[in-house]
Amino acid sequence: MKEAAKYGRIDSLQPPYSLFWRQVEKDAMPYCVENNISIIAYSPLAQGLLTGKFAADHKFDPQDNRAKNKLLQGENYQRAQQALDKLRPIAHRHNCTLAQLALFWLIAQPQANAIAGARHSEQAIANAKSADVKLSENELQEIDAIGRIVTDHLDDNSVMWNW
Ligand SMILES: NC(=O)c1ccc[n+]([C@@H]2O[C@H](COP(=O)([O-])OP(=O)(O)OC[C@H]3O[C@@H](n4cnc5c(N)ncnc54)[C@H](OP(=O)(O)O)[C@@H]3O)[C@@H](O)[C@H]2O)c1
Repeated sequence: MKEAAKYGRIDSLQPPYSLFWRQVEKDAMPYCVENNISIIAYSPLAQGLLTGKFAADHKFDPQDNRAKNKLLQGENYQRAQQALDKLRPIAHRHNCTLAQLALFWLIAQPQANAIAGARHSEQAIANAKSADVKLSENELQEIDAIGRIVTDHLDDNSVMWNW
């Protein structure tokens, strides 16, 4: 990014970023914060995992690219279920969904915005309402710590899929 910035202004970076996938915080985020570059997060719901709708024994269709997502496999997936169980009471307290909680946490991070994917208009409307969730600084930190149940076990590879 430093090299590219020699040739023109960089307005935004589009990395994978969510409560369960946070490598950007270690590499590009400090540079983005310092240089006022927007972080436009893709897969902010970890491809739907953060909605909490997939059961512990869910099997993805091999044609679905989620079948190759590292977060949706093996121990990562089981850790994600543990983390989601800890997030549920916080969402319940705020009368919001897990998706809204995860998106609000994300857009509260420095320079962060979310491209929340949606298959149906209802999902898009519900996801947009994440901006209405109100969480205290303590709650954001609590959610942060819960996310680390998953992220502390990931390596630095920023590619989310085993293609
Ligand atoms: N720059 C890049 O390399 C790159 C890579 C990937 C994606 N993107 C962009 O980022 C966008 C979002 O990423 P993404 O689609 O990978 O992941 P995401 O936003 O984390 O997850 C989106 C999926 O989660 C499910 N979902 C979303 N909201 C929901 C809700 N309220 N309730 C229940 N399920 C919900 C939907 O799938 P189901 O209903 O099928 O479960 C939806 O397709 C994409 O549309 C794309 O524009 C960019």
